[in-house]
Amino acid sequence: MKFLVLNGPNLNLLGVREPGIYGSVDYDGMVRITRQECAKLGIETGFYQSNHEGDLVDAIQAARGRFDGIVINPGAYTHTSIAILDALKAVAIPAAEVHISDVTKREAFRQVSYAGMACCVHVIGQGVAGYAIAARQLKEKIEQAE
Ligand code: DQA
Repeated sequence: MKFLVLNGPNLNLLGVREPGIYGSVDYDGMVRITRQECAKLGIETGFYQSNHEGDLVDAIQAARGRFDGIVINPGAYTHTSIAILDALKAVAIPAAEVHISDVTKREAFRQVSYAGMACCVHVIGQGVAGYAIAARQLKEKIEQAE
């Protein structure tokens, strides 16, 4: 099984960016941890990060036929991007939403998740460990559906 782990704006600044909220592990560290944990579960991973909404839409479209699942943290586009929601629905690849912070306990503007509406797994507030947790839950969902 092969998953695309997709990260949106400012997640390249993990470790530097508001460490009190997002922790001290940087983007490369998150990639290492997620790749390692997923490998233990028999999940191969590809990673992509962009600060640009259209690039994320392109990456979702390009995942067709190449990935069995998408683990996505759309960053702030979570709360604004109908284009990312539509892309996830268009490709119909099983998807898991991840948020490093507990968005449910943050500002009112973070309480809507458009991308999450196309996801069958939601892992929120588990830090960077959330990516591998989401991948495990997504794998289980895919296997149950088979
Ligand atoms: C985030 C939460 C979003 O509200 C925020 O804009 C991010 C990161 C998270 O991982 O907690 O960029 O998706």
